[in-house]
Amino acid sequence: MGFRDDFLWGGAVAANQIEGAWDTDGKGMSVADVAMYKANVDVKDYQNQVKITTENIQKAIADKTVADYPKRRGIDFYHHYKEDIALFAEMGFKAFRLSIAWTRLFPNGDEAKPNQAGIDFYKDVIATLKQYQIEPIITLSHYEMPLNLSLKLNGWVSRDVIDYFVKFSRVCFESFSDVKYWLTFNEIDSVTRHPFTSAGIIPDQSKHLEQDEYQALHHQFVASSMVTKLCHELIPDSQVGCMLTKLTDYPNTCAPEDVLASFNKNTMNYFCADVQVKGVYPPLILNFFERNHIQITMTNEDLAIIKANPVDFISFSYYMSLVSASDETNLELTSGNTVVGGKNPYLETTEWGWSVDPVGLRISLLELYDRYQKPLMIVENGMGAQDTLNADGTINDQYRIDYFQAHLSEMKKAVEMGVDLMGYTSWGPIDLVSAGTSQMSKRYGFIYVDEDDAGNGTLKRYRKDSFYWYQKVISENGANL
Ligand code: BG6
Repeated sequence: MGFRDDFLWGGAVAANQIEGAWDTDGKGMSVADVAMYKANVDVKDYQNQVKITTENIQKAIADKTVADYPKRRGIDFYHHYKEDIALFAEMGFKAFRLSIAWTRLFPNGDEAKPNQAGIDFYKDVIATLKQYQIEPIITLSHYEMPLNLSLKLNGWVSRDVIDYFVKFSRVCFESFSDVKYWLTFNEIDSVTRHPFTSAGIIPDQSKHLEQDEYQALHHQFVASSMVTKLCHELIPDSQVGCMLTKLTDYPNTCAPEDVLASFNKNTMNYFCADVQVKGVYPPLILNFFERNHIQITMTNEDLAIIKANPVDFISFSYYMSLVSASDETNLELTSGNTVVGGKNPYLETTEWGWSVDPVGLRISLLELYDRYQKPLMIVENGMGAQDTLNADGTINDQYRIDYFQAHLSEMKKAVEMGVDLMGYTSWGPIDLVSAGTSQMSKRYGFIYVDEDDAGNGTLKRYRKDSFYWYQKVISENGANL
């Protein structure tokens, strides 16, 4: 048993990491437009590096240059999308996951009418994809909420944001009604790891930050269910997915205390998908709220909406795994995808410290499918690495091929074990600005973009060795992995 005939092979991006053109054609500022470049960022210390304060945001708003804010320039996909999509088509892509920048349609998030130029841009991107029979998979919210809603309402802490988001989503469904696959919130569970990026929460505006984070999450659950319902009504054959950061965790030893520590981490990681798939808050999480004096305002109506509108499929990102112990004092730590955790001595790490764990991908697929028994889609996977552009325009990225080969063959084994997998979109099929560090030098692509961390370069696109490797995998529908 191999991959489905209609398996969605492709790549995934987010508007704020590729488009650039941050103030073009009426676009407003999003939370991504104030994210500063962090040279030598220590991702192990992610929370301290972020340093989001109202004062810093105001300074960033006053600074109209792009120099320190790489997400304002991205890779200029806004003006290169035809060329980039042609390259994806050349690789044989069946699907391309992209997000719609909320601020292109509603620059401040709360306007009465949408900005037509923003709608037109995405219409043309989608038409270009369709021209090559590439299925768009659209994320409605990928770390780019309007900055205005963050400053005015402390982001998703406010219930009012639900209505603004539903309005934005309605415009998307009506304007892009030929799109079948939709994801609501990218890595929804990340609200508690980076509340500003994920939910527009400015810590100095919160009296009880942890409570506000869970309140914001609750509002996102309600909004996600509301737009799932709306999408089904407006686009009858559509499918809507949740999107989870799959942070697979292992016990450091077989000591029952370590197993328990790891169980607790994994339970917290599954919590959001549990709500979005099963339609109810897990009892263990409600108990966690109680023990931690977290009081969330949730109405009966909210709970009824969540219950009535679960997602159709589960999408997730997978990059690395970590280990947990009951006593972490002697545990060697390493960084992961916006998390820090125990380093696994059996695994190699990338230059950024993320553990490379292909078998962990198979474990994740099996666990998710066993838990939910709904179709799965891997919508992010890949390795950030520095690449060298040779004088002849080639890039020899065998390390990236090795990473993908190992992960995709484990993915194949999971499918052979019965997992219902709809598709696989690698993260950043074309180099883009890093979400965590705003570096360009942390490259994920099959396509190299000539641009450095300071924004210098021709922006010319080059095919890496991995480009041809992925092209072959797709053409064989993964038969020889
Ligand atoms: C995921 C995000 O968490 O990880 C992406 O959804 C992000 O937006 C990706 O780019 C990789 O992280 P980073 O920090 O290396 O860009």
